[in-house]
Amino acid sequence: MMKEKIDIQRLKGWIDEIDTFNQTPGEGTTRPVYSKEDMEARAYVRKEMEKIGLEVSQDCAGNIYGVLPGRDRNLAPVWTGSHIDTVPNGGKFDGLAGVFSGMEALRVIRESGKRPLRDLSVNVYSGEEMSRYGACCIGSRSIVGRLRKSDLQSHVGPDGISLFRAMEQAGLHVENFEKEFPRKEPVYASLELHIEQNGKLEAAGIPVGIVTGICAPTNLEYEVTGVQSHAGGTSMKDRRDAYMAAAEISLLAERLARESDSPYITATVGDMRIEPGAANVIPGKAVFPLDIRSIRMEDKDKMLDGLRTGIKEIALERGVSVSESMMNHDKPVMCDPHLREIIRAAADQMKIPAMDIVSGPYHDSLMLGDITRVGMIFVPSRDGISHNRAEWTDIRDIGAGTAVLADALWTLGNEERVE
Ligand code: GLV
Ligand code: MN
Ligand code: MN
Repeated sequence: MMKEKIDIQRLKGWIDEIDTFNQTPGEGTTRPVYSKEDMEARAYVRKEMEKIGLEVSQDCAGNIYGVLPGRDRNLAPVWTGSHIDTVPNGGKFDGLAGVFSGMEALRVIRESGKRPLRDLSVNVYSGEEMSRYGACCIGSRSIVGRLRKSDLQSHVGPDGISLFRAMEQAGLHVENFEKEFPRKEPVYASLELHIEQNGKLEAAGIPVGIVTGICAPTNLEYEVTGVQSHAGGTSMKDRRDAYMAAAEISLLAERLARESDSPYITATVGDMRIEPGAANVIPGKAVFPLDIRSIRMEDKDKMLDGLRTGIKEIALERGVSVSESMMNHDKPVMCDPHLREIIRAAADQMKIPAMDIVSGPYHDSLMLGDITRVGMIFVPSRDGISHNRAEWTDIRDIGAGTAVLADALWTLGNEERVE
């Protein structure tokens, strides 16, 4: 029933229109959390949710809820949705596909004239991407209570502005944070559609992935302090170069990840700030993030042990000091077997090919797994590319994923299970 009704032109229209709220037009999409463009994009989403007849509200972290009321409003709701912030010079599908597919699914259900038993809510979670405040999944992390009010004060961006202040400046009532979070009311289940960000679905020629588990990030920041000195005047043996130590630590992380027997472990150094930053000055300081992922917590713990031992040796050898701060050390989550079955049944019934898949990237669902059962639907990424302006997903694949999502939401929204 759902497949015929999904309007892929409407989906495409939403994805194209929201892309006008962008700091880098022509050079990919840049929409950092709580920026002017992010706030304008949220206003756009809220307006579009209202147009399709949803009840719209927002919490103090800026998470948006577009609700299609169920027949029994006392029952726990079923959630769907994703994020609308982006990485710098990223693509226009990461997160967005999940928000608009959720809206389209609810529109189709609403227009069928039938009401689900439970409320269905399509949500926009604030700041899923690793932000300049050193925090990822700000909105969903707040909902589940993994982000506290004190963290909002201590997470400070390079411009010296705290996450708390950034939220205030965005007009959010952050003073209510402890009252609203962690969320007290139960959530029956959550389904998120997302682009795959890898090439497995494309290689298999299959439009829908049923996610089995979500790898989780551990995000660290290292500060290496050496001695700033003259590039020509300081002999190779006398220098205490902060950057070279940082480079060696980065390579150590890469080696440990490559040598791990886990196929899903990754280690990434995506930034490097060097002080004072001149060609003829040996750096006195280097500050860089390290992003570690895996589907097993033990892999990450083992890697951290190896890193810490190696860093001590590097620091001693190079005469530098190294400090580590850990922003998050998140647990991987397994998708719920019952939700996976519902997704599979929806795809089978519509004859949409589907396959099981592990998510290397994290998602808001990783956080939501603390408070409810989660399931995810992936749609293919062209050439497996994401976090890049070349990110692309065929709108027909998003349409197929949306049909599966709508059907699965309908099924879940009518489950009577006593909570
Ligand atoms: C989310 O975008 C991630 O970095 O996995
Ligand atoms: Mn995403
Ligand atoms: Mn992303």
